[in-house]
Amino acid sequence: MKKTYRVAVVGATGMVGQTFIKVLEERNFPISKIVFFASKRSAGQEITFQGLPHIVRELTTTSFNEGFDFALFSAGGETSLNYAPYAAEQGATVIDNSSAWRMKSGYPLIVPEVNGQVLTSKDRIIANPNCSTIQSVVPLKVIHDLFHLKRVVYSTYQAVSGSGYKGVFDLERGKNNQDPQFYAKPIYENVLPHIDDFLESGYTKEEKKMIDETRKILGMNDLKVTATCVRVPVLNGHSVSINVECEKRIDLSLLREELKSIGIRVFEKNNYPTPKDVSGRDQIYVGRLRLDDSVTNGLNLWVVADNIRKGAATNAIEIAEYLIKEGLK
Ligand SMILES: NC(=O)c1ccc[n+]([C@@H]2O[C@H](COP(=O)([O-])OP(=O)(O)OC[C@H]3O[C@@H](n4cnc5c(N)ncnc54)[C@H](OP(=O)(O)O)[C@@H]3O)[C@@H](O)[C@H]2O)c1
Repeated sequence: MKKTYRVAVVGATGMVGQTFIKVLEERNFPISKIVFFASKRSAGQEITFQGLPHIVRELTTTSFNEGFDFALFSAGGETSLNYAPYAAEQGATVIDNSSAWRMKSGYPLIVPEVNGQVLTSKDRIIANPNCSTIQSVVPLKVIHDLFHLKRVVYSTYQAVSGSGYKGVFDLERGKNNQDPQFYAKPIYENVLPHIDDFLESGYTKEEKKMIDETRKILGMNDLKVTATCVRVPVLNGHSVSINVECEKRIDLSLLREELKSIGIRVFEKNNYPTPKDVSGRDQIYVGRLRLDDSVTNGLNLWVVADNIRKGAATNAIEIAEYLIKEGLK
């Protein structure tokens, strides 16, 4: 008989949480019990899962005592730091979407098709990377395996859904000539080179996340990486322009074939992917592949994905599926 699992969804009323629910249903994840948690604000709301109503519960330190196999967290860093250890202590494997655990040593940061092999049955809190990082490291791993990465330059074009409902509301407010409540400047008909807080170095935390997380996932502590992260008035779907320098000569047709072989959709000639093409899909789309002759063995590419799906919920569920498939859970 097929094994089934007890699942807790923490942050179930949020943008990522709602997508967890959709993706679990679509993939027919083997569930024996599912419980939805949020803050006190949303406790008592009803969520329909597989046609049945479920009441949202307030998250507390005893929420996990009844026993869960997986706890899918998407409720912000503070909630995760405060509650994930309770879930783990009670035997659940936590897969966390916040940045709370990503760079802590001893906590795996996983994109299954890139570094799933580092997971063990002992891991109790597993971090899901930053959305822009996930969609970038998948093609970068292919490029590294073929041509050995030397340097990576990221420029992102990130949708407002990446900020959750707060970002979506600010775009709506702008359309109605109202001031922003979440972003520092209006996002409607504008572009903000500012995602998350500024650091002493002049970088933003989002840029630092992309740099650090890329190195951790690829297992390349010394990889040269820089990033400029930009919020654009797109509802959903992040785009990343990536410039890389490699050790070896780049063969574009070999690269296209290898990218396709791992499930990336490659756009060729003058066709290219946009956020509207990927929104609602789990695949990563790549286009504008071209050699960069300004450096030795340089390459440019354009990478687009749905930040709530592959950039968050889908990747987290793929981590759970990977653990099950490898007999680690
Ligand atoms: N959006 C993205 O593209 C994306 C991508 C990757 C990672 N993430 C990360 O995923 C997390 C959630 O993002 P989101 O976009 O889904 O945000 P969101 O739409 O603002 O949703 C936040 C969720 O967290 C819950 N929550 C907040 N405080 C809580 C508390 N003290 N206890 C229990 N639940 C609490 C909220 O419940 P209430 O309804 O009760 O307020 C809501 O369900 C964040 O850490 C974010 O950085 C987001």
